[in-house]
Amino acid sequence: MSNNIVLIGFMGVGKGSVAREISSRCDIVNIDSDDIIESMSGLSVKKIFEQFGESHFRDLERRVALWMSSSLQDTLISTGGGFFKVESLNKIGTVVLLDASFEKIYERILAHPNAQAKLKKRPLFADLEAARALYAHRAPLYKEVADVVVDTTDRTLEDIAQEIITEVINR
Ligand code: S3P
Repeated sequence: MSNNIVLIGFMGVGKGSVAREISSRCDIVNIDSDDIIESMSGLSVKKIFEQFGESHFRDLERRVALWMSSSLQDTLISTGGGFFKVESLNKIGTVVLLDASFEKIYERILAHPNAQAKLKKRPLFADLEAARALYAHRAPLYKEVADVVVDTTDRTLEDIAQEIITEVINR
C-alpha cells in the first residue's frame, strides 16, 4: 500500500490550504496535481484550457495520476476539483473528500482578500450558474470515490487539518 493521502473536493473548498496546514504540523510532503500539470506543460491551468481545451487538461490529469500511483509514497496530494475522475484514483492512496455546500464554498471565496483572482484563475468558475450545476452533478460522485468524508462547514483550517491527522495519518 502506498500510504499516500489524496485530498479531493470542489474548486475553492480549501484542498491546497488544508494540505499546507497538515504539512506544517507533521512530517509529510505535500504536492498538488495542478502544480505538476503546470510545471510539466509550462503553462497555467487557465492557459491550458484556453489554448488546448478541457479534454487536453483531463488527459494531463490522467497522466499525472498514473505517475502518482506508480511513483509516490507517504505523500499528501492535493488535487484539482476534477481530478477525482481519474480511473486509478484509489490506487494512489486513501481518498479524503473535503466537503461543503456550494453556497459555503462561494461565500468563502468571496470573503478572501484575493477573491477575484481566485475566481479568474479557475475557468470552470467563470459562469456562476454553470459552476453551481457542476457542483450538483459532482457532489454524489465525490462521495462515491471517497474513503473518508470531512465536513468543512464553519470550521477552521487548523481544526480540519487536525481531524485528518488524527483520523487518517496517525491511525
Ligand atoms: C477544476 C478545478 C481546478 C483546476 C481546473 C479544473 C475542476 O482546481 O484543476 O481549473 O474541474 O474542478 P481547484 O479545485 O484547485 O480549483
